[in-house]
Amino acid sequence: MDFRKKEIKTSQATDLKRNLQLKDLIMLGIGAIIGTGIFVITGVPDANQAGPALTLSFVLAAVVVGLSGLCFAEFSARIPVIGGPYAYMYVVFGEFAAWFTGWFLICEFLLAVCSVASGWSGYMQGFLGSWGIHLPKALTGGYNAANGTYIDLIAALVIVFITFWVSQEAKKALRLNNAMVWVKFFIIILFIAVGIFYIKPNNWTPFMPNGTSSVFRGASLVFFAFLGFDSVAMAAEEVKNPQKDVPKGIIGSIGIATVLYIIVTLISTGAVPFAKLQVSDPMAFVMRYAGHGFIGSVISVGAILTLLTVTISMMYSLARLLYAISKDGLLPKQMQKIDKKTRTPKNATFVAGAFALFFAAAFPLQILAELTNIAALVYLMMVSGGILKLRKDFGKPEKGQFAVPLVPILPILSVLACIFLIAQFTLTTYIVFGVTLILGLAIYFFYGYRNSEMNKQ
Ligand code: ALA
Repeated sequence: MDFRKKEIKTSQATDLKRNLQLKDLIMLGIGAIIGTGIFVITGVPDANQAGPALTLSFVLAAVVVGLSGLCFAEFSARIPVIGGPYAYMYVVFGEFAAWFTGWFLICEFLLAVCSVASGWSGYMQGFLGSWGIHLPKALTGGYNAANGTYIDLIAALVIVFITFWVSQEAKKALRLNNAMVWVKFFIIILFIAVGIFYIKPNNWTPFMPNGTSSVFRGASLVFFAFLGFDSVAMAAEEVKNPQKDVPKGIIGSIGIATVLYIIVTLISTGAVPFAKLQVSDPMAFVMRYAGHGFIGSVISVGAILTLLTVTISMMYSLARLLYAISKDGLLPKQMQKIDKKTRTPKNATFVAGAFALFFAAAFPLQILAELTNIAALVYLMMVSGGILKLRKDFGKPEKGQFAVPLVPILPILSVLACIFLIAQFTLTTYIVFGVTLILGLAIYFFYGYRNSEMNKQ
């Protein structure tokens, strides 16, 4: 079957102002990348199993992200338009693949919003707990009967707040993002500067207490910590020199995050015996364990503030993505409605908020993060595979545009690396993912295929 394709547009005319430079892109990337992954997920049970070797899990995840980041970067240089991978797939594979990439992106953003809200709830509860305030156990986490938790009340409340905020004041909230990146740097540097004096090398032995399989499993979870680099490509139409700076922004922000993650993990596992790190606010916990309760609180407050902005920017992108896909006719047209007063896609924001509310309240962080990761890995695999098709149909990039080295070896390695991480998930994740796949298929064949704007053309 041959699917409708869009034409390649290398220099897009845009109504947006092109004023972003490389340093803005790196700030944008770091703003979306550093969040729950390092502040919270290092403490979830399955990541914790890796022990001090969680550092290796981060390295492995960084390699997988780095390989797909390179492929992503070539696309972003050659097709610098809004919509990122969704737009790339429309050009190389056609509408069906574009829809699925869009669908996985929607799932990734939606579930990432929920995961970060859930992580935020963990930090908030740790912070409130240090002041002696505790919620009833049933309301402290997503459904996990064995553990006695049913609903994550704080995560649900934060989603309601964010949906409302993004529908009203998105621009202001995004401006806050840059300030928050500095807060993030500050708390991470504070953590490193204090924590380094509490490392006891004994805590690093045994380095790999549960074997290599736990390191691979850990990598499949902490992969979450790198997501968000795609937001750099989403800004393509507002970048002064997108063909050069977008690829550099992607690779630069992944690089900075990798270095920080490795140092933080080495310090955490060196300062505290790893088994004790199974908490919902591991970085603050390390400081409390070292006897620095106040610094622990500073880190908690910093994380609470910065995680909030990660959720806001993700919800912002999600609403715009729904809006863009709806404009192409693949989702109901009600979602392209722009509110007259606030000039935001209000309906798309509310739809995103309603789904996010359900998932954030009902599911525990680990499942949310796994689902986010599998959706991201599948679409990244399509992007890497897409490079082979892009080169076949459109040849090599022009001079000055970023080019993936060693084609076809590197894209093939990237696809294999994604498959390797996908193979590490649990059965529940595969089943839920299977359901979303069928749902995506149904939406396309019962709605998108017929209502697509390209169909009308
Ligand atoms: N990478 C982002 C985070 O860790 C999604 O919160």
